[in-house]
Amino acid sequence: PRLAVIVVAAGSGTRLAAGGPKAFVGIDDRSILHHALRGVFDAPEAQVVVVAPAGREGDALTEVAATAGDRLDRVTVVVGGDTRQASVAAGLDALWADVEVVLVHDAARALTPPEVFSRVVAAIDAGAAAAVPALPVVDTVKRVADGRVVASVDRSDLVAAQTPQGFRRDILASAYAAAQADFTDDAALVADRGETVVVVAGDDRAFKITTPADLLRARALLEDAPL
Ligand code: CTP
Ligand code: MG
Repeated sequence: PRLAVIVVAAGSGTRLAAGGPKAFVGIDDRSILHHALRGVFDAPEAQVVVVAPAGREGDALTEVAATAGDRLDRVTVVVGGDTRQASVAAGLDALWADVEVVLVHDAARALTPPEVFSRVVAAIDAGAAAAVPALPVVDTVKRVADGRVVASVDRSDLVAAQTPQGFRRDILASAYAAAQADFTDDAALVADRGETVVVVAGDDRAFKITTPADLLRARALLEDAPL
């Protein structure tokens, strides 16, 4: 297929502190990875690369088998690395030759609605090299040094980036091939190479499950609107 989705799920979930890798922590009776994959398989036809923690490939495959339906033959499971960036790089290595557009998605954004995927793909189809979903920043943001506020940052031109982030494959691959520093998201890495990254509307439900409070929020959302 022309499109691929790399689902990074290899993190250890230190902040969630649930006793094991975050991807396999339950939200309801299903895991974070299970819910994330459901969303991915709702998106348009794509190769799906699941990046799993070392030693947990079998568990990742179990979640794939439970969610992929007739798309099972388009799924690849690979092992991730010590950083998110290393995990994305492992996913990139597994892309099929015909893939031209790549979405990189955090498994931890398990409840991301399909519309977000559609908006990102539409931006790339319209000619963007890179596109990220984002939401306005709601908090008042301060720059701090030595425990003191040194500046109040105008939030009107700030957004919080989410995933899936979309890229033309050639641009993402060459940015990764040239990467020196560690970046916190793929858009930063591509922007550092001078590429323009366009912003599309994010969604509240695409929040990242990071802390125990986030897990409770995800659980509550599923109770209101079971998927
Ligand atoms: N991720 C990954 N490989 C890593 C680190 C992160 O694939 N070495 C993935 C996570 O599985 C997650 C996404 O990147 O889906 C966003 O990372 P984050 O929320 O920070 O997850 P963790 O790194 O697992 O959590 P923490 O930072 O609290 O340890
Ligand atoms: Mg992390």
